[in-house]
Amino acid sequence: MNYEELFAYVKDELTAYDSHGGVAKTRIKYSRYDHTVRVYNWAMILAEDYKDTIDMEVLQIATIFHDIGYGLNKDDMDHHAADGAVLCREYLESIGYPQDKADFICELIARHSDKDCMHSEEIPLELVLLMEADLLDDTGAHGIIMDAWIRSTREDVSFETILKHIKKFTQKRMQDNPMRTKKAYEIWEDKKELTNRFVESLTVDLYGNLENGI
Ligand SMILES: [Fe+2]
Ligand SMILES: [Fe+2]
Repeated sequence: MNYEELFAYVKDELTAYDSHGGVAKTRIKYSRYDHTVRVYNWAMILAEDYKDTIDMEVLQIATIFHDIGYGLNKDDMDHHAADGAVLCREYLESIGYPQDKADFICELIARHSDKDCMHSEEIPLELVLLMEADLLDDTGAHGIIMDAWIRSTREDVSFETILKHIKKFTQKRMQDNPMRTKKAYEIWEDKKELTNRFVESLTVDLYGNLENGI
């Protein structure tokens, strides 16, 4: 499988959506294609431990296509997973890809937003890894930068309002570890520690001690 071609196809489909900054992350130029590449990188890191037990090609294709549904630019983004599965099937049919594997890939894409079932015994490991990789993006250091970026678009931006925003979003989000596989769980814990440490350090920078900043 030529993965570069798949990436190029998905990039093309998401170009219009990305060119107006997307709608999922308000006010900043958030590229859904760049998110896709980052999720792919996470998926490959997590999959290393399961190379012999999972279908790597299925995971790779599903990850590359998982958010292509945003390209349809519908108002209701809840449907992007189902739309993505349809778009992916069309593409795979057009290149004569085996039907049974296409079914598996499209199932992963269609279900990837349903993160509540991540700990269910019933879902395939490929779906667990896709969900984990998807959730790992925009967290930790990356989440902190994104919070600062989003908050800086408002008029009353200051170091203090940015710190507040980081505490409200990234730090809060990091506290409950949703990961299921061992490596993903540890990566999340590392990111959580980094976020807590960053918030503490910045609080002391801005207020002189931890108490005043709370
Ligand atoms: Fe998604
Ligand atoms: Fe995603």
